[in-house]
Amino acid sequence: MENFQFYSPTEFVFGRDTEDKAGELVKKHGGSKVLIHYGGGSAERSGLLGRVRTSLEKAGVSFIELGGVKPNPRDTLVYEGIELCRRDGIDFILSVGGGSVIDSSKAIALGVPYSGDFWDFYCDKAVAKAALPVGTVLTIAAAGSEGSGDSVITKEDGGLKRGTGTDLIRPRFSILDPQLTCTLPAYQTACGATDIMAHVFERYFTNTTEVEVTDRLCEAVLLTMIKETPRVIADPNNYDARANIMWAGTVAHTNIVGVGREQDWNSHGIEHELSALYDCAHGAGLAVIMPAWMEFVYRHDPLRFAQAATRIWGCQMDFGNPEVTALEGIKRFRSFLHSIGMPINFAELGAREEDIPALVDKFGIGDGKTGGFVHLSAEDITEIYRIAAKAEL
Ligand code: NZQ
Ligand code: ZN
Repeated sequence: MENFQFYSPTEFVFGRDTEDKAGELVKKHGGSKVLIHYGGGSAERSGLLGRVRTSLEKAGVSFIELGGVKPNPRDTLVYEGIELCRRDGIDFILSVGGGSVIDSSKAIALGVPYSGDFWDFYCDKAVAKAALPVGTVLTIAAAGSEGSGDSVITKEDGGLKRGTGTDLIRPRFSILDPQLTCTLPAYQTACGATDIMAHVFERYFTNTTEVEVTDRLCEAVLLTMIKETPRVIADPNNYDARANIMWAGTVAHTNIVGVGREQDWNSHGIEHELSALYDCAHGAGLAVIMPAWMEFVYRHDPLRFAQAATRIWGCQMDFGNPEVTALEGIKRFRSFLHSIGMPINFAELGAREEDIPALVDKFGIGDGKTGGFVHLSAEDITEIYRIAAKAEL
């Protein structure tokens, strides 16, 4: 195991009706003038925004609002949010929504105290020194942004999707009421489940040895997702299954399952080019990319893949040929994704094979290589897109 520091300062408030505590939590964390930031309408329709407003009013906290965050959140709304916050002297941002709303909130939070262009943080031109505090009321178990220090934004001009990471934007609090996720369509539930599983796999496939505790934590989260996802798809109002998935989503991405080990994250980078170009759901893109990435890299460490196959997917170990077991595990992963309604190839995602050179070009690796479990060249990434394009069950 490698040395590590684990910093997760977020106060998680979990359970039924916890959104009614939004006002008191904002106050507790120093907010007096709030921007409520939300998405395309689901939070209004469900009555959640109404309850959040009431909670803020009860706590004596004033607020303004900015809705309209789209999935794969755009820089244009971030600029609008920054201007609003400056104009009205906002001192706290409350996100009501999913990863897109939270990431847009984090970008606004970084932009308000910064004299330059907030995009500087997303293209590695500047390192953030300050940010407004952010709190969240989560409505979808997926991105894990409610507990992460990351934010991913898409620049409308040129369609670049890029992320930034700093502890400054870790939410001060996150309200997790599983009931709020019951209104999710099955497809969005499955996209979220795929993203949660991907966040664990990005950490599971590592070159670091002797990481038994994090291996086992990863396996626990994955086994939970395999059990609970079909349950909520069959019965969207199953509170306990929704609750387990919601907590799994947070645990998967605070990094508690990834400390002390080298991590990969190439599938995420490769996927982000798909959601940038086609505006598809991040989880759906991962369903197409991650098994393809696995098929491309498994020979690097067949025993680790065979371990995943036996412990997570229940495969029988072929001691004479662990590669067979490794491949069987990947096959079961793809079948599972298909069974929950996820696309498994380019055609099902709405992507085009002829766009592969453009996707690789935008990835921007040039003659270099990525880091991670297996370092990838532009040629390798091209091959992963090709495998993904043609994948079958
Ligand atoms: O906009 P509304 O109307 O709210 O609809 C949303 C949206 O259409 C809907 N939705 C959310 N909660 C709902 C609901 N519909 C009904 N009932 C509810 N309770 O779901 C759709 C998707 O929402 P979105 O916020 O986009 O989903 P998700 O949480 O998957 O976030 C995806 C974004 O997060 C980024 C992704 O790249 C993508 O841009 N990521 C952020 C990370 C981070 N900050 O740590 C890490 C991830 O790996 C990921 O890259
Ligand atoms: Zn993700």
